[in-house]
Amino acid sequence: MKSSSVIPAARDRSGNDPIFALNADARRRAQAGESILNATLGALMNDDGSLCTMPTVVETFRRFADERSAGYAPISGLPAFREAVVLDLFADGPLARQAVAVATPGGTGAVFAAVMNFLEPGQKLLVPGYYWGPYRVICDHAGREIDTFPMFGRDGAFDLDALAEGLDRHLAIQGRALVVLNFPCHNPTGYSLDQHEWRRLSQTVARAAEKGPVTVLVDAAYMEFGGRAARSWINALPGLLGSATVLVAWTGSKSFAEYGARVGALVGLHRDEGERIQIENALGYTCRSTWSNCNHLGQLAATALLTDPELAERVTRERSGLVELLRERIDAFNEHAGAAGLPTPRYDAGFFVAVFTPDEERTAARMRELGVYTVPIPGAVRVALCSTPASAIPRLVEALEAGIATGARR
Ligand SMILES: Cc1ncc(COP(=O)(O)O)c(C=O)c1O
Repeated sequence: MKSSSVIPAARDRSGNDPIFALNADARRRAQAGESILNATLGALMNDDGSLCTMPTVVETFRRFADERSAGYAPISGLPAFREAVVLDLFADGPLARQAVAVATPGGTGAVFAAVMNFLEPGQKLLVPGYYWGPYRVICDHAGREIDTFPMFGRDGAFDLDALAEGLDRHLAIQGRALVVLNFPCHNPTGYSLDQHEWRRLSQTVARAAEKGPVTVLVDAAYMEFGGRAARSWINALPGLLGSATVLVAWTGSKSFAEYGARVGALVGLHRDEGERIQIENALGYTCRSTWSNCNHLGQLAATALLTDPELAERVTRERSGLVELLRERIDAFNEHAGAAGLPTPRYDAGFFVAVFTPDEERTAARMRELGVYTVPIPGAVRVALCSTPASAIPRLVEALEAGIATGARR
């Protein structure tokens, strides 16, 4: 057999994310004249199918594009940007004084940096059973693995006992645990932890942390769309910091509707200053050895958007228009899905919701026959309400019903 120059581990990898492949198929059929409802992609779209943008953000990016932004940014990011992200999360309170931050290419870069520095090669990342697919490839590429715990208990709520078991298992086997909690607005289920769940979660983590180092990575990608839960998770951090390291993956992709700018940060919080210095240095090393430094223009613009009171006020106003657009879709979905009795987790905010099905591939395939595209994930299909107009919700729910009925037939 002819030998390949590509190393065995990297051979036969799919170069494209499966969601992008589904999206391409949906677009091809739409261009050929079919009526297609494409609920696959994770970007907020207007009802006419164009990308939602925020005029103040676009204008600010234009304003900062000059000789300065053409130069390299510092390796760990512009100090003003790093500070602005911390202030955005914690204002000028005690948490801000326990935080360090480095710039990363989006939340994806932040997750990568967390996996590289808080797990040894070969160790496992702990995530709920429903999770954002790239966590797996990030781990795989980084020489780490992924391990899951059942996300929902019998009562349909987040299964804290399963999390506790997962943490104990990792501490026993690998002497440390790194768990990702993508709340609020969990992708792909749409679930958000409430205040009470966050409080109990920090008690669960504290019990586990008696047995070894625990790091909790809050992937806050959808934070600004979290409705009532948008920032309530921050109240749980002081409790978590009593026993654990907390990381926050912050990104401008959704909150500024600037997916392509790749503006993000990994924020590390620890009660001990020596540990914070370690974290900051380790993360800086990851920056240098992977992306070298991040988008300078993006950091300049994001800093202005976060710190200039007039810009920040305009951004908040424009963003509330987008939150409202999504709100109408979520309300319409909950009304129709509720009436049809579709099985979903609690869903009141966020870009996506999962609809449970006994056979996700057959469900998604039947829906595609009806011209409706969703993403099959183990045990469910993921529906992107961020790209579904409210007027299309009845069609979406009908297709889901038909798809689930097909999935249930053996
Ligand atoms: C759960 C989750 N985390 C993180 C991200 C990161 O996105 P980005 O790298 O564009 O910031 C996304 C984007 O789809 C996401 O869904």
